[in-house]
Amino acid sequence: MAESMSSFGDSAEKTGGLTRRQFLGRAWWVAAGAVGLETIGGLVASLWPRIEEGSFGSKLKIATVEEAMAMPVGTVTYFPEQRFYLSRVESGFLALYRKCTHVGCVVPWQPEDPSEDDLAANGRFNCPCHGGIFDRYGVVHSGPPPRPLDIFPVTVENGELVVDTGTIIQRSGFEESQATEV
Ligand code: FES
Repeated sequence: MAESMSSFGDSAEKTGGLTRRQFLGRAWWVAAGAVGLETIGGLVASLWPRIEEGSFGSKLKIATVEEAMAMPVGTVTYFPEQRFYLSRVESGFLALYRKCTHVGCVVPWQPEDPSEDDLAANGRFNCPCHGGIFDRYGVVHSGPPPRPLDIFPVTVENGELVVDTGTIIQRSGFEESQATEV
């Protein structure tokens, strides 16, 4: 009888060769490890920039070559979701980042204001924060911005204009080579 009780006690207390206490202890560590991994995974995922195709920070198809060529020289077209202006100048297309190079305010295009360049009579960028003024090349004409508006590379791929909003190019002035010919 004593032997049979002892055997009953062992089967109740042992799990897979471990005592109940050992088993519960290991199970706790496995559960804690799983929670820890999940937390670390979530943290890493939240820190890693998630760039969806077609959103700011990726390469964006913005127009067909035909659509782009229909924009007259001097035209400035706003792509608000993509955070840039497409400016057509004599030598091609510039994708101007809308972020002011002073302290980063969004710079609106003012189509009715007097122009600061020779391409058209009207249109310029007026920064609302400290009065910075840029022309349609993105070049500074007055105010505190230390350099022209930054640009994104523009390429032609399979008959479409593609702007790489993941690559910001700083510049000290305008050069024709900055514009993409189509
Ligand atoms: S942020 Fe544009 S002029 Fe200051």
